[in-house]
Amino acid sequence: MSQCNLGEPWRVQMNADIKQAAERHPELRIVWKDAQNDSLVQRAQVEELVAQGIALLIISPKEAAPLTKPVSEAYRKKIPVIVLDRAVQGDEYTVFIGADNKRIGREAGKFINKLLDGKGNVVELKGLMTSTPGQDRHTGFLEGLEPAAHPGIKVVFEADMQWLEPNARKEMESALSREKKIDLVYAHNDPGAHGAWLAAKQAGREKQMKFIGIDALPHEGVQYVKQGYLDATFAYPTGGAEAIDTALELLHGQSVPKKIVLGTRLYTQANVASGGEEIR
Ligand code: FRU
Repeated sequence: MSQCNLGEPWRVQMNADIKQAAERHPELRIVWKDAQNDSLVQRAQVEELVAQGIALLIISPKEAAPLTKPVSEAYRKKIPVIVLDRAVQGDEYTVFIGADNKRIGREAGKFINKLLDGKGNVVELKGLMTSTPGQDRHTGFLEGLEPAAHPGIKVVFEADMQWLEPNARKEMESALSREKKIDLVYAHNDPGAHGAWLAAKQAGREKQMKFIGIDALPHEGVQYVKQGYLDATFAYPTGGAEAIDTALELLHGQSVPKKIVLGTRLYTQANVASGGEEIR
């Protein structure tokens, strides 16, 4: 299992989900690698795993381009490869498992449009734009928000915070000093939304704006909604359990679809107490 980093709670959860699912199958032994958020380290670790002679590779890659080659090399050596959550380029892997980030972005855009009643100044704090969820959560967001059709809505500031709360906080400080009126912050993950909230709070402006995030971990984003920091968050399932189910199928020689798409849920101030709502 090649994990791109374990510095973020969501990735710790992914590994925990994999571990829990794998524990029911004593015939599986997992070799864990943590690339500490460095694509070159992750590439070397994948090469090392392949050289060791693994039966199957699960990878959640940091960035698409630099991890494409090691993944396709493993695949060409007939090692089944499960790509989780962030994609690689091309199609030289066995199966991709993850939620539809373009869809989540689109739902966020539509929700934000409704929340703002078609008018307001928006800040977008993007996830790492060399990773596919960052790209998809951005394009989907614009499709759902439709700023061209709603001239009252303006994206007044956008920055790549690379999924990291401290970066989001710093970018938000710049946004706050540049923009007198900010009505809403859309961050591509909950740590980003929380970092933005902290910056706004420090400037005494957090009550003037709304905050939307993505991930909805029970002990992170969902708590932020319950505590009133975030107005909403969209669930981004880790796919850990599905990865183990799929790994077993592959190891038993069964065929699996090229893509397994996981669902999402929306948690808002209004529905968080009752467990959020499924997005269909
Ligand atoms: C964790 C994370 C999550 C985000 C996902 C996207 O590394 O940044 O917060 O939803 O990766 O791949």
